[in-house]
Amino acid sequence: MGKNPFIVGQPVPPESFVGRKSEIDAAFDQIFNRSHLAIWGGAGMGKSSFLEKLASPQVWEERGEDLSKIVIVLFSCQSINPFTPSGFWREVLSGMRDQLDIEPDLQTEIETLLAQGLTTKDCLRQILRKLGRKGKSLVLLVDDYDAALQENKQYTEADMVTFLSECRNLAYHSKERNLSMIVTSLMRLNELGPPLSPASSPWYNHYLFQSLKLLTEQEAEQLLGIAPQTPESQPLRDIIREIAGGHPALLQNAGSLLYRKLRTAQGTAMDAQAFATAFAREFKSDTRQIFQNIWDRCSEEEQSLLMLIALYGLKGRLNEESYDLSDLDIIFSQKERELTNLEEQGVITRTELVEQGKVTNIHEKRVGIRTEQGNKKILSFTSSLMEEWVIQELRNTNNESLEKRRKVFLNLMSHEQTKNVTQAIRWLWNHTQEISSALELFGKLSAAFPKGAIQGLFNWM
Ligand SMILES: Nc1ncnc2c1ncn2[C@@H]1O[C@H](COP(=O)(O)OP(=O)(O)OP(=O)(O)O)[C@@H](O)[C@H]1O
Ligand SMILES: [Mg+2]
Repeated sequence: MGKNPFIVGQPVPPESFVGRKSEIDAAFDQIFNRSHLAIWGGAGMGKSSFLEKLASPQVWEERGEDLSKIVIVLFSCQSINPFTPSGFWREVLSGMRDQLDIEPDLQTEIETLLAQGLTTKDCLRQILRKLGRKGKSLVLLVDDYDAALQENKQYTEADMVTFLSECRNLAYHSKERNLSMIVTSLMRLNELGPPLSPASSPWYNHYLFQSLKLLTEQEAEQLLGIAPQTPESQPLRDIIREIAGGHPALLQNAGSLLYRKLRTAQGTAMDAQAFATAFAREFKSDTRQIFQNIWDRCSEEEQSLLMLIALYGLKGRLNEESYDLSDLDIIFSQKERELTNLEEQGVITRTELVEQGKVTNIHEKRVGIRTEQGNKKILSFTSSLMEEWVIQELRNTNNESLEKRRKVFLNLMSHEQTKNVTQAIRWLWNHTQEISSALELFGKLSAAFPKGAIQGLFNWM
């Protein structure tokens, strides 16, 4: 058996990168038009991996592109600490110096600028011009651009406005048109940065915007190296879909843990039930920080919507008259923006049921939005663990925190509806046992791990 093929805690190497074809195409379109691209996506969605993929010679060769005319500089704004414009230009210049062994005179010139501390946009422009005369272009891959869009002690709002206009200026007006900039951030650029001035066009107008979404089911299977559609791989696929959805970081975590556990279990008489229980427990603890991070980064309103979705989901599983949520689903149709945001962060998915008028019983129970065409868009959590997390948050409320939460609910809904929701939350406080058995992940897992399936899992390794 070889080494664990799954990557946890760092970007995936380009040769193991899966999917994202249309985003890569968009990046190359922008690069060849000397234009710019802003990629955004939630934590662990693959932003750094995407930039590393673009920086790898392999992806250029696959496209038959000549790399000898391109200088690629990749860095993260988080490595400039605290962020300052001068630190930013220094990263660009020193990155170029490192890539320019075949242009020693240009390299020396950059070296001199760096030694003199001349790290400004104008110095970069001067170097870009010389690079252009040699028929070369710079592709600037900037990770975690959020850091450039937040003030810090050495970076005031006025500095930020200046920096962003310098970037825009460089992007638009560089004479040789030999710069293409690709930035990544956690949120769309228009939700970050300084307030817009009515007198000038938005600082981000030169970017094409693309979000990194969850991986499709096929891509997720490719990532895990599961032979598609074989009966042996079915239990594995069910589990992964349940706990990781198409979330790249969760998928890598799940794959890595499964691999480790199977390696230990190999050659022993493995009890499926015990295996599933241990897997569920460890996966929960390995990925806790991912869910914590997602939760903390949601606005109060988004958290409240997640709570509502979780309450609906739980009610559907409790199979009894537990609490009343009637007429609450209407709220979701008024919160399109927040739901889009949650979807883009990879927390929820919206699936449209197209069989008009044929909403089945099981779907009737799931919360959704009626579309104009009369279809239903089901709202669900990407990962059942996120759902558990939210229910846990609800159970952890007390009178005091519930009172605070009530105020947020009141921004979303009427007094009557708020009353129903708070009653539902109080119901959770008193029915721990029912909730636990409705949610228990390892119950689902052991069902997915029938005895014969274990052999299938070994084959997967
Ligand atoms: N396209 C992909 N193919 C395979 N694995 C991926 C892909 N994208 C991301 N991953 C995996 O998901 C995890 C998170 O990826 P990455 O660090 O690139 O995300 P990120 O969006 O930069 O996260 P952060 O917001 O924390 O910076 C990594 O373990 C990486 O291996
Ligand atoms: Mg990253």
